[in-house]
Amino acid sequence: MTTLIINIKELLQVRDSSILKVSGAEMAILPTIKNAYLIIQNGHISDFGSMDDLPNINPEKCIDADGKIVLPSWCDSHTHIVYAGNREQEFVDRINGLTYEEIANRGGGILNSAAKLNEATEEEIFDQSKNRLEEVISLGTGAVEIKSGYGLTVDGELKMLRVIQRLAQNYPITIKATFLGAHAFPLVYKENHKGYIDLIINEMLPEIAKNKLADYIDAFCETGYFTVEETEQIMKAGIRFGLKPKIHVNQFNSIGGIQAGVKYNALSVDHLEIMKPEDIEALKNTETMPVALPSCSYFLSIPYTPAREMIAAGLPLALATDYNPGSTPSGNMNFVVATACIKMKMTPEEAINAATLNGAYAMGISETHGSITIGKKANLIITKPIPSYYQLPYAFGSNLIDTVILEGEIIV
Ligand code: NIG
Ligand code: FE
Repeated sequence: MTTLIINIKELLQVRDSSILKVSGAEMAILPTIKNAYLIIQNGHISDFGSMDDLPNINPEKCIDADGKIVLPSWCDSHTHIVYAGNREQEFVDRINGLTYEEIANRGGGILNSAAKLNEATEEEIFDQSKNRLEEVISLGTGAVEIKSGYGLTVDGELKMLRVIQRLAQNYPITIKATFLGAHAFPLVYKENHKGYIDLIINEMLPEIAKNKLADYIDAFCETGYFTVEETEQIMKAGIRFGLKPKIHVNQFNSIGGIQAGVKYNALSVDHLEIMKPEDIEALKNTETMPVALPSCSYFLSIPYTPAREMIAAGLPLALATDYNPGSTPSGNMNFVVATACIKMKMTPEEAINAATLNGAYAMGISETHGSITIGKKANLIITKPIPSYYQLPYAFGSNLIDTVILEGEIIV
């Protein structure tokens, strides 16, 4: 099956296959081709270039993208979209003055979602989660990482990971699964951290590895959750089972989580709202991708990741949603890109690089996703007719997506 897209006003993020991420000053450069064509063959990008060089072919399908921009789908490298119920009441409690921390301390927060998840059947969780997945697909996301972490029991964590696996089998979007058993200590283990960590390492991990239910291991390294030492234990165990770390660090406090992540060669360290100079220093010359989650900062009214300082230090940066019921009930990558520009002072070029190629890197798929490159998956966004790609962050509340293509098929 061959599909030809012609008259593309501007084709964004055109890259050679050797470029797997962009860092520092490179982030300001977004290579494009104006007045372009693109050819899709068997779900992959097989050719693209200027309309002046359009080859003479007979495609099964032709799309005229006159006035429209084409870019690679968003790669959302950090979500928790498999969950049960919602936390609307906590949202109102925060409006009325409670903090996220105060809500968690009185048994709400992650434990609230864990209680709901353990009560729900696998079918109910699948049905709720698939609606969220369908929504993010329609918003232009073409690859998504999904975490467990609302089970906090052997059964609950396995149930979540099976739902993620089933979503991956039923939808054309690329999905990576992350085991986040170390999201919070369940109440029964409040005074027995060792007991819960033993459960993760000796009961959950072997079962997950045996059934190939996860690609990555995560832990919430934060005051009141997992200490640096406990996070290291979890990462070490995950690595033994073949799971590379991708961890939650520096959301509310800088306690050494980044340094621990780097030490264990984490694929990414995520959140980074609170960054000390030594945290930025620790990320230099590493393979670890820093990931910012601006819609979490927006929803919780906490600081934004200091993108300008990090990029000035030569670091790469990826952007993701953090879609979850507590801190970010939104999976809209368009809003993430706009918020990164508006609140973190990233340029449109930097934000688009961060939400495509660097996002792909942060979930281990930048050899196949995240740019317009021959051989990569044809996961594409075609916008409505717009004056320029600046519109994407500028018109922050508008839906500018006209067509979503996944593996060469028109989805929306
Ligand atoms: O990434 N910070 C830890 N985990 C999630 C929030 C979890 C929740 O509140 O349900 C996050 O923000
Ligand atoms: Fe998260």
